[in-house]
Amino acid sequence: MSVEQAHRRGFAPGQILFGGDWSPEQWDRATWEEDLALMQEARVNTVTLGVFSWSALEPTEGAFVTDWLDEILERLADAGIGFFLATPTASPPPWFTRAHPDALPVRPDGVRLTHGSRDTYAISAPAYREAARRITRRLADRYGHHPGLRGWHLHNEYGTLDHGPHAEHAFQAWLEDRYGTIEALNAAWCTAFWSQGYASFEEITPPRTTQYLPNPSQAIDFRRFSSDEMLAAMVEQREEIRAAGSTAPVTTNFMLPTWNHLEQWSWAEREDVVSLDHYLDTAGPDAEAHVAYGSDLARSWSGGPWVLMEQNATGIRVDGRTLAKGADRMIRHSLGYIARGSQSSLFFQWRQSAGGAEQWHGALVPHAGGRSRVFASIARLGGILERLAPVAALPADGPLVRAEVGILWHADGWWALETPDLPSSHLTYSAEVRATHRSFWRAGIPVDFVRPLADLSAHRLLVVPAQYPLSDDQVSWFEEYVEGGGELVVTYLSGLADEHLRIATGGYPGRLRRLLGVRGQELLPLPAGERVALSDGSEVEGWTELLGVEDAEVLARYTHGDLAGLPAVTRARRGEGRAVYVSAGWTQEARDRRLAEIAAELGIGPTLPGAAEAGLEAVRRRGDGMDFLFLLHHGERPLTVRAVGDDLITGASARDGLRLAQGGAAVLTLAPDAPVELVED
Ligand code: GAL
Repeated sequence: MSVEQAHRRGFAPGQILFGGDWSPEQWDRATWEEDLALMQEARVNTVTLGVFSWSALEPTEGAFVTDWLDEILERLADAGIGFFLATPTASPPPWFTRAHPDALPVRPDGVRLTHGSRDTYAISAPAYREAARRITRRLADRYGHHPGLRGWHLHNEYGTLDHGPHAEHAFQAWLEDRYGTIEALNAAWCTAFWSQGYASFEEITPPRTTQYLPNPSQAIDFRRFSSDEMLAAMVEQREEIRAAGSTAPVTTNFMLPTWNHLEQWSWAEREDVVSLDHYLDTAGPDAEAHVAYGSDLARSWSGGPWVLMEQNATGIRVDGRTLAKGADRMIRHSLGYIARGSQSSLFFQWRQSAGGAEQWHGALVPHAGGRSRVFASIARLGGILERLAPVAALPADGPLVRAEVGILWHADGWWALETPDLPSSHLTYSAEVRATHRSFWRAGIPVDFVRPLADLSAHRLLVVPAQYPLSDDQVSWFEEYVEGGGELVVTYLSGLADEHLRIATGGYPGRLRRLLGVRGQELLPLPAGERVALSDGSEVEGWTELLGVEDAEVLARYTHGDLAGLPAVTRARRGEGRAVYVSAGWTQEARDRRLAEIAAELGIGPTLPGAAEAGLEAVRRRGDGMDFLFLLHHGERPLTVRAVGDDLITGASARDGLRLAQGGAAVLTLAPDAPVELVED
C-alpha cells in the first residue's frame, strides 16, 4: 500500500462530518451571525468554504483579500466547526478571462465560451494553470496549518473539456508519449479508413466538429487525455499545498450520475480521500438503489472510507421539476451513504442563495429561514449523526463492507459506448452498470466495484457489464480469475474491441471468445419495446446476437422468433471456474432473478435474508472491533429485527426485537459477524 493509500484508508475524523457548502461572501454579517447560531442548533460540525470564491479572494490580479475569510474562520473556530477549504479554480474571475481570453475553453464546434457562468477554463492553458497554482499556494500558505482545516477540496468537479489550441498541443504531446511513433498511432487508429493517415503528431487535432462521423479511436483517446490533463492540474495544486507544508488530506469532488469526464481509479490514487457529489435522477423507488450505487462506487474508488461532499437536502430534479425528497427519505439516504463507507453527510448548500443561477437549489436553510420544516428535519439529522460518531472509527484491517461480488467499472466503457453509430445508439454504459448493481441491491447482496487488473481474491463472482474495449492484460486477467476458480459473468457489448476500439474479428465478442467458448456472427439489436422470451423463463430486450457455442454449455435459448432454438446465455468451464456469457439484453426482472440465482449457487447471500423483499435495506459496516448494521426501511409495512445489539439512534435494544416503522431507520451495534434475523409478524 502506498503512503497515499494509507492516508486515505485512515480518513477517520472521529465523528460523522455534517454540514455543507457555506458561501458567506454572498451574505451580510447579520446573516453570518444567524448562520452560525443555526449551525450550532443543527449540530453542524463541518462547512466547505471557498468553492467559487476566486473573485472574492483575488478581486484584481495579484491583490489578495482574505480578511473576510480570516474572520469567518475565527467565528467557525469559536463555534467548534471545522472546514474543508476549496481552491476556487473552477471559476476564474472576470479579470482573468479578460487578460487571458486564450484560457477560455473551446467547444468541438470551435465556439470559444465566454465568461458569465462557471467552469469556463481551458485546462491546458498555461495562464490558467499558473493562476490556479498561485491562488492555491496563497491559500495553502495562509490556511494550511489552521487547526480547523479538515481537508483541501481541490477545484470543483473537474470536467470542462477544451478543444482549443492549447488542448491541441497538449493532446499531441500526450499521443506521442503514448504511441511513440506516428506509424503506431496510425495503426491503432485505423487511419487508413477515410484517408486519415497522419505524417506527424503535429497534424492531429482534438476531435472537433467535422463533416460526418469522427474517428472513434481519436475520440476515446481525447477523453483519456482530457482526464489525464485535468489530473495533472489537480496534482499541481496538491504540490503547492504540500510545498507550503500543509499536511491536511486532499480531495476533489467527483460527480455522479450524469456525466463522466474522469477515469476515477487513477484520480483516487492521487487523493488522500475520495469525495463524491451525488444528485439523484429519479424520485421513484430507484432513488434508494441509486444512493447505494453512488456509495459503492465511491467506497470502491477509495478502497476505504470516503466523503459525501454534496447532496441535495430537499429536492430531486426530474424532467424539469424539482420534486420533494421528504424528511424521512433525506435522513435514510444520508444514512445509506454512511452505511457504505461515507464519513460524512455534507450538502450543497448551507443557505439557499437569494440570487445567482442556483437560487432555487435546495439548501439546509431555505429561503424561509430557520423557522421551517426543512431546517427542522436538518436539525433532526444532526442529532442522529452526532450519535453515530462511533461509526466513523475504522476497522483495524479488512474492508469497511465485506462483499464477495465485484462489478467491473472503468471509464473506458462509458466513453466507448458514446461512439456514434454503434449497432445501437440506445445503450449507455451507466445504464448497464446501474442495472447490474440494482439487481444485487434488490437482492440485498453487498457488492464492490473493481478496477481492471485488481486483486480479486475477495470476490467469488465478477460481473462485467458492457466493457466494450478490453486490452490484452485485461483479457488475461479474466482468464486467470476463472482458471483460479472465479465465476465470471460477462454481458453483451463487452470485449468487442481492443483498447483502441478496433474490432477483434473472427466472431464476437472477439476478445473473449476463447474464454467464453462462443462465436457470435451477428449483433442484432431489437426494435424499441420488443421483448423475446428465453427457455429459462426470462425475457430479453434491446439486444440479441446470432451466437454459436464452441466450447460451452447453453443456459438459455431463444424460444421463438428468428433466433428460436439458438443460444442466448452460455457457460464455459475453465480450470476451477466458470465464465457465463449473457449475449442478449436481460430485462431488469431477468437480470434480478438470474444474478441472484448465480450468487445463490455460489453460496453468496444477502446481508439479512428476507429484508430486501420487504423493502428493508440492511448494510453491515465494519468498525473498530464491532459491526454496525444499518437498517433503512423503505418499505411499507412495519418490520421487526432481532439481534444482540442496541440501536445507536434511539438506544433501544434489539435483543427481543426492534420494531422498524415505515420510513424508519436504525443502526445496530453488533459484535463482529454476530447473527441478525428478521422476525415474522
Ligand atoms: C454540483 C456543484 C454545486 C452545485 C450543485 C447543484 O454539481 O458542485 O456547485 O452546482 O451541483 O446541484
